[in-house]
Amino acid sequence: MLNKIAVIGGGNIGGVLVQEIVRRRLARNVALVDVKEPELAKGKALDISEGLPVLCTDIKVEGSKEYDVIAGADMVINTAGVPRTTRPDGTIPTREELLTTNLKITDAVSAGISKNCRNAMIISIANPLDAIVYRLNMNLKPSRAKLMGMAGVLDSNRYRYFVAEAAGVSVDNVEAIVLGGHGDSMLPIRSACRIAGMPVEKFVSSDKLDAIEARTRKAGGEVVKLLGVGSAFVSPAWSALEMAEAIIFDKKKILPVSAILKGEYGVEGLFIGVPAIMGAGGMEKVIEVDLTASEKEAFAKSVASVQKTADEVIEMTK
Ligand code: APR
Repeated sequence: MLNKIAVIGGGNIGGVLVQEIVRRRLARNVALVDVKEPELAKGKALDISEGLPVLCTDIKVEGSKEYDVIAGADMVINTAGVPRTTRPDGTIPTREELLTTNLKITDAVSAGISKNCRNAMIISIANPLDAIVYRLNMNLKPSRAKLMGMAGVLDSNRYRYFVAEAAGVSVDNVEAIVLGGHGDSMLPIRSACRIAGMPVEKFVSSDKLDAIEARTRKAGGEVVKLLGVGSAFVSPAWSALEMAEAIIFDKKKILPVSAILKGEYGVEGLFIGVPAIMGAGGMEKVIEVDLTASEKEAFAKSVASVQKTADEVIEMTK
């Protein structure tokens, strides 16, 4: 149990996060900050606090429009930013199209963290994922292990769910990794997908796996279309908590996370989804997966698209 976890942004994902942090007793204090009028964060914190007797817990839940509520937090989970939503003509934007708006919000978030809990471990969820984490890194310059983005866990969970459904087995039996940027170029790694330790191809045909991998790449958009307003929020919150729990309980769990690469996979200075050992130190070690030639090629394409968005971040800073 930590002393304090701060959740930034109290919308759909932030609301689920606070509920779950309390339910799972991950911290003695939970702080929610959201700029939304009249007092969204205060309202959500009060609603959850009034349910505490049901859970028989005295965790302190505070919400505010002011960032000082997050003072002294050991861990920050950042969800501040607009989500994708269906346009009136039925089309949906890419995550990259959120960049201009969410970059400004990220600068406000950075200032709030810098002033109130500079040394906190940070897990960021806002989109476009890899570019927003890149910006947080530019602004806050934390140590490498203390800042990471949540995307790969969600993308891998989506892949696992689809594979389990197709194979007719428990999701528990399916192990999978999705690498690369959190966009349409993400890479479900078939060679690393196992069902109870056996190659996935033993259970699911190659054609079906092609379709599952294509669906995984577009899975966020599929939910956006179905919801009509906003984007997925329960599975992203749970996925971020899988990372948070690995850190809080020092699990040394290998999870795909967006981490800054320092030469691994031949990449320097970019946040990209890769497997990493997650423990009390945060993102403790990047693991390099042996990729097939075609997977290497696809990974390079994904890196190029993340680089393009990172370049836009730098351009917008000028
Ligand atoms: N500080 C704190 N909160 C802010 C700020 C800010 N400067 N600016 C905006 N917010 C808040 C909004 O008021 C809103 O309540 O962030 C919240 C975002 O909540 P939702 O709109 O419900 O979005 P959500 O579905 O939670 O997604 C948040 O995560 O997965 C990504 O693409 C998604 O970028 C989006 C983010």
